[in-house]
Amino acid sequence: MEKFRQKLHIEPPEGWLNDPNGLSFFKDEYHVFFQYSPGSPEGRTPRCWGHCKGRELFSMSYEGIAVSPEIPEERNGVYSGSAVENGGILHIFYTGNVKEKGDFNYVTNGRGANVIRISTADGVHFGEKQVLLRNPDYPDFCSCHVRDPKVWIENGVWKMVLGARTADDHGCVLVYTSGDGENWSYVTCVSKPDFGYMWECPDYFSIGGKGYLSVSPQGLPHFDTKFQNVFQSGYFTLSGTLEDNAPEEFYEWDMGFDFYAPQTFEAPGGRRVLIGWMGMDNQADYGNATTALGWQHCLTLPREITVLENGRLAQNPVAELNGLFGEKKSLSDGETSEVKLPFDFSTRADGKFTAELDGRLRLEYVPSEKIFRLVFADELYGCGRTERKAVIGKLEDIRIIADMSSLEIYLNGGETVFGTRFYPDGESVRLTVSGSVSAALRNFLKED
Ligand code: FRU
Repeated sequence: MEKFRQKLHIEPPEGWLNDPNGLSFFKDEYHVFFQYSPGSPEGRTPRCWGHCKGRELFSMSYEGIAVSPEIPEERNGVYSGSAVENGGILHIFYTGNVKEKGDFNYVTNGRGANVIRISTADGVHFGEKQVLLRNPDYPDFCSCHVRDPKVWIENGVWKMVLGARTADDHGCVLVYTSGDGENWSYVTCVSKPDFGYMWECPDYFSIGGKGYLSVSPQGLPHFDTKFQNVFQSGYFTLSGTLEDNAPEEFYEWDMGFDFYAPQTFEAPGGRRVLIGWMGMDNQADYGNATTALGWQHCLTLPREITVLENGRLAQNPVAELNGLFGEKKSLSDGETSEVKLPFDFSTRADGKFTAELDGRLRLEYVPSEKIFRLVFADELYGCGRTERKAVIGKLEDIRIIADMSSLEIYLNGGETVFGTRFYPDGESVRLTVSGSVSAALRNFLKED
């Protein structure tokens, strides 16, 4: 087992991974594709789509590269996109990225962003590439940054959202419709004044009849307890339909160091499941200890999304995760235990709460401040990560899923989540928790 290799999270065999793409359940199998730069843990080779599939969310196998740059319309990278099933065929829509050679700014000129479709009847063999939309097909107010098609079918009508940057540097989402998935017409643009210069990786979904628009905006100002990363991602509640262009509040999906460009899909049982990139843009002032070992980044756990009473969305690990861990063992308050990774820790909280890992990472809730914080005490453990915070009115419960080099921390039934990579010395951590009520630990069942 290589050091830091994850056991629960999808990561590349070598090279660089970013956004999840084409998430789907098709012909009895889950498919998870991802942005992949083979051969370069820093992400310097043209993007392809890596592919994992399997009958269960936690036992997928890596199938190799599914889509790679072949035609001129995608010569500088097969960028992000999505998958949708229609009549027994899985259709994949993605962005073909082109960078012209010459003296260009690559924002308003010099870049091609093409929507390309490929289809498959078995999820493994893909047909011919079809270019459906090119730069002239986007509204005149757009720059050349238009990408990441997310496609779904609603009452027999195909719909697509694309992330875009306007020529005057505002982020927005373009909405298209189609009767056949091939010929698309522009409908409208969804935006919010002064909310970043580019919105990447849009996603639209509804739960219980109410629609939500997820976007990953670039260019938001940073604050002490929000928008703390280089780029952000979150969802808007909508006061009408998507086409009404009425985004309301924006809620960040994840308050940790490592989260961006999530995508959702409908899993069996009518569940809305989200997977994000557990990573951050190269401009972040922290890195990953795996880069020196030949690979970088992973995806988050699949998280089921549900609606809370206050209208916000909760994220919790899909139920399948429970089957991977053993019996609950109680953990006494204030005691230090050596805990093997991965583990699943949960507790109710009673006022002030702290959890320390190896004395090098502290999770802490201070009721008088109403702040939950994640603080790395040393450079190596967090590979440069320092502190992330979120405002929490009252802390009621905490669940921590630790993998070999990541933590996902779910607070108050999944209303607030923190995701981070961390780099412990070995395959266990010394865990000390205080302020917990009925704390329980579950160990990972599968041995190597
Ligand atoms: C988001 C993103 C997408 C793009 C892809 C390229 O992380 O920049 O907008 O399609 O990554 O890898």
